[in-house]
Amino acid sequence: MRNKVTIVGSGNVGATAAHWIASKELADVVLIDIVEGVPQGKGLDLLEAMPIEKRDSAILGTNDYADTANSDIVVITAGIPRKPGMSRDDLLNTNHKIMNDVVGKIVHHSPNCILIIVSNPLDAMAQAAYKMSGFPRERVIGMAGVLDSARFRAFIAQELKVSVENVTAFVLGGHGDTMVPLPRYSTVAGIPITELMDKATLDRIVQRTRDGGAEIVKHLKTGSAYYAPSAAATEMVEAILKDKKKILPCAAYLNGEYGIHGLFVGVPVKLGSKGIEQIIEIKLTAEEKAALDKSAAAVKELIAVINV
Ligand code: LAC
Repeated sequence: MRNKVTIVGSGNVGATAAHWIASKELADVVLIDIVEGVPQGKGLDLLEAMPIEKRDSAILGTNDYADTANSDIVVITAGIPRKPGMSRDDLLNTNHKIMNDVVGKIVHHSPNCILIIVSNPLDAMAQAAYKMSGFPRERVIGMAGVLDSARFRAFIAQELKVSVENVTAFVLGGHGDTMVPLPRYSTVAGIPITELMDKATLDRIVQRTRDGGAEIVKHLKTGSAYYAPSAAATEMVEAILKDKKKILPCAAYLNGEYGIHGLFVGVPVKLGSKGIEQIIEIKLTAEEKAALDKSAAAVKELIAVINV
């Protein structure tokens, strides 16, 4: 049996996720959008690339949720992206309405799927999807930590002139200005980066990571990042479909872990075929814990606005 992944939203993030997933031959892909023609056109275009890529992934673009039936994973990217000067939080109300509509339809057609939420503001949208779906928390996962950590890793590799493959890094907390990069748990070939660069350099890289999304929005002017966000969602899809038990930072619904109750916050989780198979609790210093709490408080403010 082939795996089936639905991607909701055929904009830049959705279509590029379809591209990564198909070109890695991870699954057949359904690309769905309310806009007529765009998912069909992009889906067909991608399908026609498969003979060149030597991949047998089937790709279908559609406006009909019936085509998404029995998906193993559904990646939700639907929503409006940021424009320059907008924060992720400015998207809150519009994207909440879109999220409710999408999740209702997805759950109807794929009651056993795993949801990966990508729409912003990420943590609040994951919380909305979780509440709307009625799914157990193992099956609703927010994509942010993989992206934020990838940005951190890219900057570390660039600074130290080493392979990105040697760099592991963790960014916890919400996907916002209060995200919590953890230099102590970030290493180059096992060596903590705190031993490889001075504090000023590290602080600069940490701040650039926090502003990573805004830096891209500033360049693009008419939209936000999509290559790295979609690659991050694809890594999560792959970990689940291949049951890799891979530890990745993701937004998960916390039930007391890290002292946080009833809230989506970015933490290290183990991803496998059941979705979130474990929430990993790492020891934090008082300062790191305070930063995580501050980040959680920012998420809490948002979910209070949309009441989820
Ligand atoms: C970013 C947006 C997509 O971080 O949240 O690029």
